[in-house]
Amino acid sequence: MKYRIAPSLLSADFARLGEEVRNVIAAGADFVHFDVMDNHYVPNLTVGPLVCQAIKPHATVPIDVHLMVQPVDALVSGFAQAGATYISFHPEASRHVDRTIALIRDHGCKPGLALNPATPLDCLDWALDRIDLVLLMSVNPGFGGQAFIPHTLDKLRQARARIDAAQQRMGREILLEVDGGVKADNIAAIAQAGADTFVAGSAVFAGGDYAKTIGALRNALATVR
Ligand code: DX5
Ligand code: ZN
Repeated sequence: MKYRIAPSLLSADFARLGEEVRNVIAAGADFVHFDVMDNHYVPNLTVGPLVCQAIKPHATVPIDVHLMVQPVDALVSGFAQAGATYISFHPEASRHVDRTIALIRDHGCKPGLALNPATPLDCLDWALDRIDLVLLMSVNPGFGGQAFIPHTLDKLRQARARIDAAQQRMGREILLEVDGGVKADNIAAIAQAGADTFVAGSAVFAGGDYAKTIGALRNALATVR
């Protein structure tokens, strides 16, 4: 299993964002996770395509855009032009989920579906074959620094089974990403349950020494059998 660590810039120093992106990549980040909040779909407000475009020259790894916005479609072309690799959205926030997936693909990006803690996996039924990433929220979206919701582990196991079947059917990779409350002391259990991609915001950026924290996350992952 190839594991990927995706530090969330939500906990970075926004006054020095380019430098933060370079530093966290130098420390071993596989993706840069970019949280977009609109004070409508979620009760917080962050950044848009302009800031994504500004960090793009500093990002030598894929930019993993997580849209927590409603509606979704109008922002897709902006983030595609700003250099996003993945664009994930919440199915509740789009009136036509299949159309939004196609729109992201047509713009040359990899579509992902983000599922809230209480959103059933059934919404993947007619979408999984068309996406590149499933993002399971292990907190309610809107804020960094929240505690991991334990029932996500059961949900990850069920999502893993669906994704394994889809990957076999189609012969291509679909990532299973977990987002919220990931730390060095729970990442092994989260990987054991089936996740392969790990968003970590406060764990990485609050620690100060990014290489040390990412190293601790990887050491914990190395214990997974
Ligand atoms: C929450 C965001 C997460 C958040 C993770 O709505 O989607 O990406 O920044 O932060 P931590 O790792 O601090 O829970
Ligand atoms: Zn996120």
